[in-house]
Amino acid sequence: MRQSAMPETDFDFNEMPERRGTGAIKWDRFPDYVPYWVADMDFRSPDCVVEALHRRVDHGVFGYANAHAGLEEAVLGYLARVHGADRLTSQDLVHLPGMVLALSLACRAVCEPGDSVMISSPVYYPFFKVAADAGAELIDVPHIRGEEDGTAETWRFDWEAMETAVTSRTRLLLLCNPQNPLGRVFSEKEIRRLADFCERHDLVLVADEIHCDLILEPDQDHFSALRLPDSFRERLITLMAPSKTWNIAGLGYTFAVIEDDELRRKFNAAKGCTVPEINALAMFAAEAAYRDGEPWRRDLVAYLRENRDALVDFVRREMPGLNIHEHAATYLYWIDASTLGVPNPCQFFAKEAGIFLTDGGPFGDRQFVRFNFGCPRAHMLEGLEAMKEALDRRAAAGS
Ligand SMILES: Cc1ncc(COP(=O)(O)O)c(C=O)c1O
Repeated sequence: MRQSAMPETDFDFNEMPERRGTGAIKWDRFPDYVPYWVADMDFRSPDCVVEALHRRVDHGVFGYANAHAGLEEAVLGYLARVHGADRLTSQDLVHLPGMVLALSLACRAVCEPGDSVMISSPVYYPFFKVAADAGAELIDVPHIRGEEDGTAETWRFDWEAMETAVTSRTRLLLLCNPQNPLGRVFSEKEIRRLADFCERHDLVLVADEIHCDLILEPDQDHFSALRLPDSFRERLITLMAPSKTWNIAGLGYTFAVIEDDELRRKFNAAKGCTVPEINALAMFAAEAAYRDGEPWRRDLVAYLRENRDALVDFVRREMPGLNIHEHAATYLYWIDASTLGVPNPCQFFAKEAGIFLTDGGPFGDRQFVRFNFGCPRAHMLEGLEAMKEALDRRAAAGS
């Protein structure tokens, strides 16, 4: 567990940077609304990252870039320290400019047209799309609510439905852990059961673990697919990135861990001529984040946890028309608006509250909205207050 009680840095998470006019998708795409949608945070990155970028910029030469030794050392150090994967070498890494690209490459590496890819919705919307890049079919077996090995009710895999839906043409299972948008951290037992499912049906497991450094529940640990037994590695592609945690998504850097030589060869071959070189600055930011960004990360997690708790408290107290379930990871909250009885809750809140949330539709359920609380608390509360006022006005109008 990597949580802290006392702040370790003097970073002020309550400071709100002005992002309008900086080309930020979140703020500039729909300028008429206050944004709580796309998954980046309204915090400056830690000093270690900003300073590493300054040093690299000051060099002044920006030719094509390779993953430099410092980056590989920082990534391998992180994988050993945090995920116990001290067996890895730079041979096992594939550096990439983005994670959605990695999901697509995995499909293209493993599937022929007519094969299929399994996902469980609701899930980050590109999961619905990447199979098509390989001409493959999509099999969606939605998460259901229920008990998982005696736990309280939670979002779980529908194991029985998965057994029914899988076919001899299914090649790949795309896992999102921690889960965006559900905020669930799957247990070791669930990941092992998933691995067993993949082995029995001869599937490759692609584990998107981009949110794995954002576990907010102190008593929950992320069980990376990298911890599965050696015998599983021939069918495993694990994807990680510093982009969500240290708020550098706009720089574009991701890495895949693929230990099986043949699978890695196919993954790299699937690139064809479709993948550009990685941004030279991104790799220096990533190095600094993984090498020096841990104290800031711990402070961030503590701040986000308090935001999350304040959000839960506000929604339960002030907006009984909305329903929220448990949440253990990410700065994204999946909010059930189905009892409002409006066809498109995201549009409703845009029009009536002036705020832009993520529409649950492309994630698999339009009756949900996803609220991004990766921002200063006062700003988060303003958004929630605007939602409450919109609902109160609606109730007063009797609709
Ligand atoms: C689960 C998940 N995977 C991938 C991404 C996007 O990664 P990238 O911007 O590197 O393509 C996101 C962004 O929200 C995400 O939530």
